[in-house]
Amino acid sequence: MPGYIILDVKTRKAVAICCGVSIAVFLLGIAIGYASGNGNTDEVPTAKNTILEQLQSSTCYNSYFDKSDSKVNRFYGTFLERHRKKLTCVKGRNECENLYLPRNYNAYHLNGRTINIDGVLNDDAWKEVPWSADFVDIRSERFPTPFFTTKIKLRWDDNNLYVGAYIQEKDIYATKTTHDDRIWEDNGFELLIDVDGTMFNYKQIQINAFGTTMDQLLYKSPYEDVDTSASGKADDKLKTWEANLTSRVYVDGTINQPGDKDKFWSVEMSIPFETLSFGSERNLTDPNPNDNEAWFMQFGRSEHNLTVENGRYVPQALSQKNWWSWQPCGAINLHLQDRWGLVQFKRNMNDKKFRFPKWHVYRALFDVMNGMDAYRALNGKFTADISELDIPPYLMTETCVKIPEIGLVKRANKTKGFEIGVKSLVSTQLPTGRIREDRYVQFSNLR
Ligand SMILES: *[C@@H]1O[C@H](CO)[C@@H](O)[C@H](O)[C@H]1NC(C)=O
Ligand SMILES: *[C@@H]1O[C@H](CO)[C@@H](O)[C@H](O)[C@H]1NC(C)=O
Repeated sequence: MPGYIILDVKTRKAVAICCGVSIAVFLLGIAIGYASGNGNTDEVPTAKNTILEQLQSSTCYNSYFDKSDSKVNRFYGTFLERHRKKLTCVKGRNECENLYLPRNYNAYHLNGRTINIDGVLNDDAWKEVPWSADFVDIRSERFPTPFFTTKIKLRWDDNNLYVGAYIQEKDIYATKTTHDDRIWEDNGFELLIDVDGTMFNYKQIQINAFGTTMDQLLYKSPYEDVDTSASGKADDKLKTWEANLTSRVYVDGTINQPGDKDKFWSVEMSIPFETLSFGSERNLTDPNPNDNEAWFMQFGRSEHNLTVENGRYVPQALSQKNWWSWQPCGAINLHLQDRWGLVQFKRNMNDKKFRFPKWHVYRALFDVMNGMDAYRALNGKFTADISELDIPPYLMTETCVKIPEIGLVKRANKTKGFEIGVKSLVSTQLPTGRIREDRYVQFSNLR
């Protein structure tokens, strides 16, 4: 049975607690930030010029933080990064589209070229497109750079998404040989795809160096409580799904043979849009992306440190595994969809510009969602009053979007959740922006 991410329920609870703590620390930081402001509530905090600079120049900062210590440096850097993100001023509508834009990649249509799925990325179709940025530590670029390079290329045609991956490795290791087995226990490469922007019914595909694959559809959001669902089972959010993909792995080295030095393994996949779109809100008679459409995607690699015993590789404990990803997402959890990167499908090879005019709508929804989650963590319930939320000031200045309207909804199955609406968007023609409310329905702790 396919499991869910790499963590069992207990570990995930621990992660949730740890994240609660970091949210609390973060809120404290914000409180300090506000307290050190000039108290004029009509003024948008000018983060770069006052709060951060004040913090940086304070005696407290200088005596407390030993910046020569790399750990302290990383902690402080992350702290500042969060503040900056939270308090950035949006000066004009032209800044909205790129507000904290995550990593992105332009996937070009094959325009008649072909890709031979043999695991070797030597096809002309691959040679003419650039690599993605190298993967980084899943938590943040502030963590040590991964000790092996991982990068991808993407293309598409009228039937398939093509994925090419380069996975540098000196000790190639794999154990699973049965489809849908627990590939996340091996060293593996994986991708997660949301085809309709609802962040629901998203797909996850994993592959190891043997070429063994695991594919699954995840119905619910990872933000929902897992073990209070109807069946009480953690895997309740999974649906059986077959990607019906074609894939091959090429190995430059030897699998499971210590003593020699391997170079890399590479992956080629073609994944039908028809299966990718299964269960989504796309029109299934036309499951392909439109020209210039952007999809949320994440790519990851998990890597054991190996030791050798009796001539065989022995992996470290799962909890010690290295997790690297295309878009860093602040937690060891590839499923946090609001922290994925973006892939734009393009037909014109000469169009190098990434553009996602709806991005700030999603950003606004994510920011309200995070504010809601933080509110609930502290208060044990949601609120329908946006002024009670700790959200970035740009959301209240109406530069990018109208002030979001929040509604608490009571659902037929007697659970409550919330719905966020961003009405009459200022800078796009979209009438509304909304993420399906059931994504955010919580099943417990509601009053
Ligand atoms: C994959 O192929 C099988 C066999 O042809 C088919 O029954 C199934 O519906 C396909 N999966 C999806 C998600 O379309
Ligand atoms: C894993 O190996 C890398 C590279 O050799 C090393 O930097 C890292 O500290 C190791 N991690 C653990 C948990 O042993």
